Amino acid sequence: MTDLDGLTALVTGGASGIGRATALLLAERGATVAVLDLDPSGAPDPLLRVRADVADDASVASAVAEALDRLGGLDVLVNNAGIGASGTVEAGGLDEWRRVLEVNLLGTVRVTRAALPALRASSAASIVMVGSIVATAGLPERALYSASKGAVTALARAMAADHVGEGIRVNCVHPGTVDTPWIGRLLDAATDPDATLTALRARQPLGRLVSMDEVAHAVAYLASPAAASVTGTELAVDGGMAGL
Ligand code: NAI
Repeated sequence: MTDLDGLTALVTGGASGIGRATALLLAERGATVAVLDLDPSGAPDPLLRVRADVADDASVASAVAEALDRLGGLDVLVNNAGIGASGTVEAGGLDEWRRVLEVNLLGTVRVTRAALPALRASSAASIVMVGSIVATAGLPERALYSASKGAVTALARAMAADHVGEGIRVNCVHPGTVDTPWIGRLLDAATDPDATLTALRARQPLGRLVSMDEVAHAVAYLASPAAASVTGTELAVDGGMAGL
């Protein structure tokens, strides 16, 4: 027996990075897992896969319905799909601001709305948001991204209050800088990738990037029966960035 035996889980953005590591770990710990992604081809075998753009109402409605049907219910929702943006509040056109909020905030809202009826029917229901340490720590050149993750964090707390009476727990994980394909792309685009990587490591007091598995373990804990008394909270997995 493992701690997630018999549970079903849906992980958005589960075809890459943190979402993929989380989907794999939840499955290893006994859950039946479906991955929802823009391009689900990278999802681990043999997990269920559904294709959707979390920024699109119809796409989310049909993909979540399909996932719930194939899973036969839902106990755990991991809202992980997200995109980044850099710059100050003056950077980017408002269309870019709308796009990032559409994916990071409204994408979370869409998937959650579609999943709540099934979660209400579960006796072990929980939602885990993958936020970011930028929701609690001010980092330069991340105004839009920080605003989107701050909104997701506040949403998680509000939802924890709204749904506690229904037995649905809602929590947030705040990763620091994690070694994922996303950060790989960021380094590829940097003028001096080595210097950029050194700076990213140095701003985390542990002196290294966080691993995808370390974030996945935090998500799995919050989704597990061991966290049955944990709701409305935020767990930083950030190498000490915010706390030290
Ligand atoms: P990633 O880019 O490796 O993976 C993101 C996945 O989300 C991809 O499979 C992508 O196809 C999917 N996705 C993106 N937009 C989507 C959409 N509109 N609809 C459906 N799927 C979509 O990224 P990574 O690094 O694994 O990030 C995952 C989450 O963790 C994001 O929410 C990100 O903001 C958060 N995060 C990442 C950190 C990092 O250092 N990598 C730090 C803090 C938070």
